[in-house]
Amino acid sequence: MLQWGKLEMKSSNRDPRTLAVHAGLEPDPVTGAISPNITTATNFTFQPKDVAFSANLNPDMTALPYFYSRWTNPTVRQLEQRVAALEGAEDGIATASGMAASTAILFGVLKVGDHVIISDVCYPGVRELVSEVLVDLGIQSSAINLSNLANVRAAMRPNTKLIHAETPCNPLMRLTDIAALSTIAHQGGALLSVDSTIATPVATQPLALGADLVMHSLTKFMNGHGDVLGGILVGKKELIEPIRARIAVRLGASLAAQSAWLILRGIDTLYPRMTMIETSALTVAQGLERHKAVSRVIYPGLMSHPQHNLAKQQMKNFSGMMTFQTRAKADDVANALAGESGTKLVHYAVSLGHQRSNLVLMRTDELMRSTYFLDGTALEDYRNYAGDGVFRLSIGLEAPDDILADLFAVLDRFA
Ligand SMILES: Cc1ncc(COP(=O)(O)O)c(C=O)c1O
Repeated sequence: MLQWGKLEMKSSNRDPRTLAVHAGLEPDPVTGAISPNITTATNFTFQPKDVAFSANLNPDMTALPYFYSRWTNPTVRQLEQRVAALEGAEDGIATASGMAASTAILFGVLKVGDHVIISDVCYPGVRELVSEVLVDLGIQSSAINLSNLANVRAAMRPNTKLIHAETPCNPLMRLTDIAALSTIAHQGGALLSVDSTIATPVATQPLALGADLVMHSLTKFMNGHGDVLGGILVGKKELIEPIRARIAVRLGASLAAQSAWLILRGIDTLYPRMTMIETSALTVAQGLERHKAVSRVIYPGLMSHPQHNLAKQQMKNFSGMMTFQTRAKADDVANALAGESGTKLVHYAVSLGHQRSNLVLMRTDELMRSTYFLDGTALEDYRNYAGDGVFRLSIGLEAPDDILADLFAVLDRFA
């Protein structure tokens, strides 16, 4: 019978580039195959003495033989081990999407009467989950600019159980100081979770900076090919294990084996992809900065990024996401970019972190009305990064000169 894979390489001194292709992977004990099998089975044979039917009576589900794929599955487990190794974590739980990973954190840590602090600007789905769903369940929240540490200290309450940060945050590319935030969280008896989707472990390992939980939308750079949804949450085993019971067994947000297999294959090339993407992104950001139609570019790797020093300190790779603003009306430029004589390589599309570049206009007014509802200083802070709206550009694996030529063919009309 297949045995659980082991996190043997996590504590080894291996380079993360090596872990990215080996961690969680052992040759199949029956056939010797060295690439992961897709175990499509939903259920597994077991000895009656080994497994109880309720998660309540199986305190460590990862120590059990495989039982039912909603609990866990051999292919999914390999993915969990691989990402845990890359993040320097004890364990992880893979989920059906990035949103399910956010749900895993929030539903895993918070109870009625608790208070959570989240970034006032983060992936809109997460912000709406907190302000529209959690509030209905009796969980209080404060949405504030987490880059302003005095604000965070002031927002802490006796019942604050969690600070949830996203750095760089979508769509602004504003950064948060993870180490400073973890000190504030822990002094107040709260946990710190970090959405590291845009950074990836190639750039930042939040656990080493003091975070308690790290999540990724695996849909983005981690898989890197725009062909599968997935998410993951990693951290100490004592935090992850109860979350597994809630999110997988009870809420049913488990990842499919086929998806896990594709993501494992994507992660095989995570390091070379992110290295190439970072180099291209810098070339594209600098090229856009020089274009007459462009009024501002925000990319953590540019010296002009307002938090470039923090980026250098916290990110070993500046990743592939940037925003730019145009002098001409953003809607006119968006229509030109997306229209028939628009860009030919860079797709006008949502999502990010794929092998093909894409961009989308994120209008400030629209996001304020739909999701963020900022005013006063918070709105000013937002507008400082975004003006009336930003084009959020995700750099893929095309040659940077081709990306620039494709964008310039449209932007030149507005110069
Ligand atoms: C930073 C961030 N977190 C979470 C998500 C949600 O991920 P998914 O679309 O896989 O549910 C996204 C999606 O764009 C994201 O950008």
